Amino acid sequence: MDYPEYLRSVPKVELHCHFEGTVRAATFADLARKHDVALPTDEVERLYDYDTIYEFLKIFGMVSSTLIDREDFARCAYESLDDGVRLGSLRYREMFFNPTLHTRRGVPMATVIGGLVDGIRAAETDFGVRCRLIADVYRQDPPEVARQMVEEVLANRVDELIGLGMDGAEAPDPPEKFAEAYRAAKAGGLRLTSHASEDAPPVNITTCLDVLGCERIDHGYHIMSDDAVVRRCRDEGIHFTCCPTSTAVVYGWPDLTAHPIRDMVAAGLNVMLNSDDPTMFHTDLGSEYIELCTALGYGPETVRTLVLNGVDATWLDDSDKTAMR
Ligand code: ADE
Ligand code: ZN
Repeated sequence: MDYPEYLRSVPKVELHCHFEGTVRAATFADLARKHDVALPTDEVERLYDYDTIYEFLKIFGMVSSTLIDREDFARCAYESLDDGVRLGSLRYREMFFNPTLHTRRGVPMATVIGGLVDGIRAAETDFGVRCRLIADVYRQDPPEVARQMVEEVLANRVDELIGLGMDGAEAPDPPEKFAEAYRAAKAGGLRLTSHASEDAPPVNITTCLDVLGCERIDHGYHIMSDDAVVRRCRDEGIHFTCCPTSTAVVYGWPDLTAHPIRDMVAAGLNVMLNSDDPTMFHTDLGSEYIELCTALGYGPETVRTLVLNGVDATWLDDSDKTAMR
């Protein structure tokens, strides 16, 4: 087995992957036909072309608008986990979804969550992969919409739904805007994470930890510009869910040998690797390991650390974590 094959076959967990960003381009085209949604191009292979986070989020919203029936959510969740297993040897995922991108179009929360859970359970039966769900605040929503979303999620809670996260364009909407939503989620027993310092200074990491009560940080690359925040996160063992390819495309680190992930690992931060929006960024979990580890010359020992950091960062209970190691 050569090294790329080895990297693809190592069993993995994934904690930073957006359901809507895992929809296959062909499925997107199929669902658009089913629901009469107009697409920007007839060429399936060009559906996921963009250069900025804003262009990306526009297509992300368009993909969401083709998910209407419970079976649409179930089909896409199932295909998403199938791809994770086949292309990345995925064993366990905590997967984001954006409730308000669906409910604001009139899709009931119960349809969204019910469909996702149908797909997750079918994938566990067929592929042995486990998946849990994290409802994401969409940063461009008003705070009140986010707080109501949390209440609706809690009212429709199932065992698979374990956390609250936050995504969308970071620069215009700082995390403190959503303190109320996070308070409600914590009171309801959800675990907490957030995208932070992907496209904004490290103060957003501090706010997520101290004001929102986040237990881990999604992305976090700008941390390297503040030694005090690096020291704090290292001392407290904060986990960072990093995504090489998506940030290379939309945030201007196209050369993986100079990606901040390299410096985060070298600084002793707890980093683990993820595919973010794999189909939309033309990648997959196995390829994220192959691209980054070969670019940075990481051997099996570092790969083992990245994978085990992922297990430690999950919200599984301790006996499950031990079994997975
Ligand atoms: N939504 C989906 N993927 C995202 C990312 N990488 N950053 C911000 N919002 C997102
Ligand atoms: Zn993300």
